[in-house]
Amino acid sequence: MMFRGALVRLAAQYFVLLVLILGFFDLIVYVTVSQALQAKADKDLATAVTQAMSNVTVTGETISVNPQPLLTPSLADVFVRVLDFKGQEVSQPRAELKKLFNNPSLSTPIGAANAGQPGQTQVASGSELYMVDTRPIVSKSHKVIGVLQVAQPISWVGDALSRLVRQLVLASAIGIVLGALASLLMATRSIRPIGRAFQRQREFVADASHELRTPLTLIRTNVEAWLRRSNGTSRAYAKGIVEEVEQLNRIVGDLTTLALADARQLPLDPKPMELNELVKGLIVQATPMAEARGVQLRPDLNGGVRVDADLGRVRQLLLILIDNALTHTPPGGEVSVGVIRHNGRAHVRVTDTGEGIPSGDLPHIFERFYRADKARTRESGGTGLGLAIAKWIVDAHKGEIGVKSAEGKGTEVDVSLPALD
Ligand SMILES: Nc1ncnc2c1ncn2[C@@H]1O[C@H](COP(=O)(O)OP(=O)(O)O)[C@@H](O)[C@H]1O
Ligand SMILES: [Mg+2]
Repeated sequence: MMFRGALVRLAAQYFVLLVLILGFFDLIVYVTVSQALQAKADKDLATAVTQAMSNVTVTGETISVNPQPLLTPSLADVFVRVLDFKGQEVSQPRAELKKLFNNPSLSTPIGAANAGQPGQTQVASGSELYMVDTRPIVSKSHKVIGVLQVAQPISWVGDALSRLVRQLVLASAIGIVLGALASLLMATRSIRPIGRAFQRQREFVADASHELRTPLTLIRTNVEAWLRRSNGTSRAYAKGIVEEVEQLNRIVGDLTTLALADARQLPLDPKPMELNELVKGLIVQATPMAEARGVQLRPDLNGGVRVDADLGRVRQLLLILIDNALTHTPPGGEVSVGVIRHNGRAHVRVTDTGEGIPSGDLPHIFERFYRADKARTRESGGTGLGLAIAKWIVDAHKGEIGVKSAEGKGTEVDVSLPALD
């Protein structure tokens, strides 16, 4: 599938957005519910305190409690006790409450209440959690004569919240899984038309370059016939045209290769092959060109390395590299083609002692039509597409290509492919 990278990025963005929205939603639900429950607990306790207080009668400095209404249904699980200023129970709390109210953490609030300040404390008793409200009982003459304590169970708030959290987590997990699928679906859908348009565009370029080849061949045949029969000025014209047509032919050829590769119409035909053998053959093939340029071309072979590759494409790849090395190496220089095996990978290194590549150009040399020295390479028949094709071949073989170059000293291109053992 085309645009896999873009697709994954888009899906990831949708997904992150979804997770953020879900997280935000969960947070709001949690905060709202927890505040509402807390408010309800506070309000209940306040009501219970008011009711309990209404059953406490202060006569002079004596406190009496009306025990009956304390057990109204609305206060069924609320526990109340009243202490006089000596700390004696005025009410008769049920036995099980003693333990709750005797919790040492309540001694401070009682002290505070005795000093006239109300307070609330959380107390655990068994598995239940209580909120205990402690407040002073004041006589008409504003003297603290006792303490009222009201305890109300509040575990239900925590229980309800943890239930809520469990449900939110579960719902969010389901939401995230569904969301991931939906993100992928949405991303696929939004990218599909672009992918189709792109594919059509690529096929168009491939078809167009292919269509150019037939008339070019025809022109070339005709001009060559003209060249053979002409002389003088006419011959010079014909020669010029032949050269240009040849250049055009090379460009169209390289362009067709790239366009077909882009359109996925150049399937590879990988077979096990020996790199040493291939390099030996290529050296023989390139020697005339090296001699013509006065450059020494030599192999640097150690043992043998086998790879599973498309013979025609790897040959094309190495020819591009050898051609570049020879083209950019002045007479007297040297080009070597080495094959080694290193860490389970086969390396082919094409090294030259030529002019090198300026470091500013280095990051761009694999781009289409990029030429560091435009005039010079065009003259030598370069199209600026060689390394772009080389890169495609390397990528298609799950290989890597790297270039090291020092201006004025030389260049080393290293191609690595997965080796067979
Ligand atoms: N071995 C080399 N030495 C110096 N420059 C090189 C070498 N190989 C490639 N280059 C630079 O990289 C550019 C791109 O190479 P390439 O894609 O093969 O295009 P072309 O050879 O058609 O110009 C060349 O124009 C040249 O400037
Ligand atoms: Mg080239």
